This record gives sequence, structure tokens and C-alpha cells, in this order.
Amino acid sequence: RCRFVVLVSGRGSNMRAIVQALRDRVLPAEVCAVVSSSPDAAALDWAREQGIATVVVPHRNYASRELFDQALAQAIEAYRPDYVLLAGFMRVLTTGFVERFNGRLVNIHPSLLPSFPGLHTHQQALAMGVQWHGCTVHFVTPVLDHGPIIAQGVVPVLAGDTPADLAERLLCLEHQVYGEVARWLAEGRVTLDAMQRVQVRGVASRSFIR
Ligand code: GAR
Repeated sequence: RCRFVVLVSGRGSNMRAIVQALRDRVLPAEVCAVVSSSPDAAALDWAREQGIATVVVPHRNYASRELFDQALAQAIEAYRPDYVLLAGFMRVLTTGFVERFNGRLVNIHPSLLPSFPGLHTHQQALAMGVQWHGCTVHFVTPVLDHGPIIAQGVVPVLAGDTPADLAERLLCLEHQVYGEVARWLAEGRVTLDAMQRVQVRGVASRSFIR
């Protein structure tokens, strides 16, 4: 069985989409644990209701990023995951952590990378006047929001859109894209090679549109 650990910090709608995507099909895959950087994450309640193991590694309890990442890595390793999926995980990870999970660490970012890394991506998109916005699922490298791209989804920007409108429109597509990528990973269709390039087998398209 392909084992996944999902990392969250808040609402957890992408985490739910991943759990459901891996459950909906006859796949030998499962989310073994949900790990949160915050004890208040709504994601934790849902995961517990589903009978999924949950762990909280409260970032406030650690004096440095290094100490937090060490505790986080230990919590994750206890579940021996094949893949670690960041789903609305809002802490910046150290190089040591990222290298430890090289090729097994995947993130979703709410913009069409390399445009708009960082925070407030919907505001950034509206301010720039782009007519298409989107999301990117990528392997994580030490450079924030810059790893090899696995899949992207695009949504139109409509007249009068607020950041909240855009976020809501995009979120539905995020769920679809991340769910699909989770299945590809479980089936071994997507891997990261030694040159840090994405290799795919039996995937017709890695672009999604709403
Ligand atoms: C999602 O839109 C995700 O793309 C974004 O946070 C939201 C989490 O929602 N992630 C980032 O901004 C990462 N820097 P969710 O908790 O409902 O999945």
C-alpha cells in the first residue's frame, strides 16, 4: 500500500479532497495520518471523525524552525509514509527537512507558479491584471514555491472579482487537481528523477481548466 501523510495548518479542504480521491477508487493507497502545525486546525476534527490518526506539532512550542522541523519530521516518520503532501500547510520548511523528504514532498500553491509565490496570491493576481489565475501542485525544493511542477489548473478572472471570489473559484479546482495528483503518485505514474525532473507515465494531461 502507498502511504501518505498530509500536513495541514487550517481548514483542510484539500486534505479532505485527497482522502476522498484515494478512497473513491480501488487504489492500494491510504492517508495514514494528518499532521497539523496548529491545535486549532478544523482539518483535525474532520480527520478524527474519519478515524484517521492525527498529530499536532504546535509550531509555537519550538524556539526555532530547525527544532520545529525536527519534531515535525519525527512525527511524520512514525507513519513511514511514501509521500508527504502539504495541504494548506503554512510554515516555511528548512532545507534540512526538505532534503530529508526529497522526491516525496509535494505542495499545492494557489497561483500559476512561477507567478505569485508567497502569500495573498489572489490579491497579487488581481493587482497584476492577469486574466487567468490558477493553482500549481509541485515537488517541494528548498526554494519556497519553486519546485518541479506536476500539474496546474486554471480559472478565468471575471470582471468585478474580489480576492475571495477568485479564491473560491480556484479552490474547487485545487481539490480536483490535488486529488488527481495523489492518485498518480499512488499508482507510481509520477516520480521525481535523480536530476530533479518530473517523470510521468500514463498521464494524458497535467493541465486542468475550470
Ligand atoms: C489552499 O488554497 C492552498 O492552496 C493554500 O491555502 C489554502 C488551504 O485551504 N496554500 C498555500 O497558500 C500554501 N502556501 P485548505 O486548508 O482548505 O486546503
